[in-house]
Amino acid sequence: PAAVVVGIDGPSGTGKSSTSRAVAAKLGLRYLDTGAQYRAITWWMLANGIDVDDPAAVAAAAGKPDIVSGTDPAAPAITVDGADASGPIRTREVTAAVSAVSAVPAVRTRLTGLQRSIAAAAPVGIVVEGRDIGTTVLPDADLKIFLTASPEARAARRSGELKGKEAVGLAATAAALAKRDAADSGRSTSPLAKAADAVEVDTTELTLEQVIECVVTLIEEKR
Ligand code: C5P
Repeated sequence: PAAVVVGIDGPSGTGKSSTSRAVAAKLGLRYLDTGAQYRAITWWMLANGIDVDDPAAVAAAAGKPDIVSGTDPAAPAITVDGADASGPIRTREVTAAVSAVSAVPAVRTRLTGLQRSIAAAAPVGIVVEGRDIGTTVLPDADLKIFLTASPEARAARRSGELKGKEAVGLAATAAALAKRDAADSGRSTSPLAKAADAVEVDTTELTLEQVIECVVTLIEEKR
């Protein structure tokens, strides 16, 4: 089958990462988690004492960390200056700061360029997940999917993911999610948005397996 480029966007808690990885693994495609890249740059800023609420300081530092993303769906890897960052990028501190960092145009320009070159270097095809893949990063993608779910379902899923890692209640998780979505949807540079030609899939009443199945079918129709 021909190489296929798939963009999957949507807010967090919609099953975006689990779906994207599983679909890529099933179809033999590469996989890119662009949220991990925004988290990696944010983690580096926090570790290097950059004030993440100062857009000028963030912009000045945006080009400094060396960020390398693996594209194996079975083992998603991200390194910052050569060191594995897959653990540190998932902390609550990074999650709380990432929307401010990702709203800075210099950060987006840098990562968008990186994402396009990774997609172009995947001859077998790739599933790229994020917030602005269909609208900005890969406007010519073969297939664009926009995942949604009710706020309640999303908070319950996020809270389930965090269980055991960090003691956060459902209400606090829901509030943090709502805050991040509002920031991601409201920023002026490439906000979270559904592309006009994206297929919207509401995952509220679906199991992960059903969402995977649905996306696999949509891709197979394009190949
Ligand atoms: O997908 P994940 O929740 O890990 O993304 C973390 C954050 O990275 C998002 O809340 C958003 O601020 C930012 N992001 C973005 N554009 C993307 C992917 C993620 O701004 N394409």
